[in-house]
Amino acid sequence: QTVYVLNGPNLNLLGLREPEIYGSDTLDDIAAMLEDAARPLGIEIDMRQSNHEGHLVDWLHEAQAEGAKAVLLNAGAYTHTSIALLDAIRSIRTPVIEVHLSDPMTREAFRHISYVGMGAVDEVKGLGAKSYLVALEKAAAL
Ligand code: DQA
Repeated sequence: QTVYVLNGPNLNLLGLREPEIYGSDTLDDIAAMLEDAARPLGIEIDMRQSNHEGHLVDWLHEAQAEGAKAVLLNAGAYTHTSIALLDAIRSIRTPVIEVHLSDPMTREAFRHISYVGMGAVDEVKGLGAKSYLVALEKAAAL
């Protein structure tokens, strides 16, 4: 069973990008952490990142077509703007769990709306890199 872990814009710069908010782990560090945690659960991680909204839409469709168990989605700023991502989440039966390193609700008002959250089955936020681990545990339990 595969869990897709889809990451949106600017997350390729994790580790360098505003480390006081997002921490010092890179996306590769997070991928390695997830793979270690997934192995004993019998889950395979398919970790991807794109700065392009449509790639994320295509990968959500692919997750369903490939029979993925779940998708962990950190859509970055598209979380707060993308009706296309919400529609994609609602267009597939694969469960999507929303993930954030920071807690957008404690930040600027423009981060308080989450289109992703309107379609996701669950969310994990504010735990830094650990948000991804907790989300994987939730995905495994689905
Ligand atoms: C983020 C939170 C978003 O508001 C922001 O645009 C990001 C990262 C997070 O993981 O904390 O790019 O999704």
